[in-house]
Amino acid sequence: MKNITVIGSGTMGSGIAHCFAQYGFTVSLVDLTQDALDTAKIKIGTNLDRQVKKALLTQEDRTATLRRISFSTELQKATASSDLIVEAASENSAVKKKIFEQVDQWAPAHCILASNTSSLSITTLAAYTQRSENVIGMHFMNPVPVMRLVEIIKGHSTSTSTLSSIEALTKKIEKVPLVAADYPGFVANRILLPMINEAIEALFQGVADVMTIDEMMKLGMGHPMGPLRLADFIGLDVCLSILEVLHQGFGKDKYAPCPLLKNMVAAGKLGVKSKSGFYDYHEDPRNPQPTIF
Ligand code: NAI
Repeated sequence: MKNITVIGSGTMGSGIAHCFAQYGFTVSLVDLTQDALDTAKIKIGTNLDRQVKKALLTQEDRTATLRRISFSTELQKATASSDLIVEAASENSAVKKKIFEQVDQWAPAHCILASNTSSLSITTLAAYTQRSENVIGMHFMNPVPVMRLVEIIKGHSTSTSTLSSIEALTKKIEKVPLVAADYPGFVANRILLPMINEAIEALFQGVADVMTIDEMMKLGMGHPMGPLRLADFIGLDVCLSILEVLHQGFGKDKYAPCPLLKNMVAAGKLGVKSKSGFYDYHEDPRNPQPTIF
């Protein structure tokens, strides 16, 4: 594999492009607008600077990494000579359906189509293509340049050769591939989101306040970040939509999203990205104040 196309240049796509380029791959990063691509370029540059500061990367490597990424709004052109496409567009099934149908027509026959979806079925995405054996999930963790896990999702028809190519590629960028079958939430979110939901339930029922719940999990369980702070970081809208996928997919009440979470999303309190969630980020985003409920 040499040429990689990353579709969607947001939080995840920019990080994925950064990592592949850092390890020598030629990357086309695609988004709908030039504005989105300009923002991604600045973000990648800032993250590379951080790595240089920490002596994880030389200045020459920084320059070479950025040079290996091309930024494009032309999906067809960007996919024409791809060996791998990693779709990291918005978590919306209609958006992903269209992308998979299009790239299936435009990409070379050998090209593997991967999705970074956090909750949608890989088997369903594969069914939009004529190459379901070449479709797989590559679920990177946020922030991508820092987190080492890539959850690999084997769809119903994913071939063993596709799986082994993607496992080998993940190791090449010094990340750890761990494989899950294609069921709602896969493994990481199936375990993480019910824990976050339970923390919100405890808050909702007045068992403890925001700070106490988070400190309890940090000091008692050794978690680097409390579940409510983590929920803010992931985005409360994203948490809600993953819980809805688990709830619908398994049909079990234990996955029903807490009413407080639903209310907060309806009120536009989405966590870090809206500067307000279980904490308030307006004054000092690095040291946010817990919200009083
Ligand atoms: P984001 O909202 O930051 O970025 C999505 C980007 O996709 C936007 O720039 C948007 O303009 C672009 N886009 C939408 N439709 C497009 C199209 N047809 N062609 C090209 N670009 C298009 O979203 P984020 O957070 O980066 O999420 C992307 C994917 O990664 C989603 O599937 C999400 O579930 C998944 N994910 C997100 C994580 C997170 O912590 N944010 C963690 C792991 C997975």
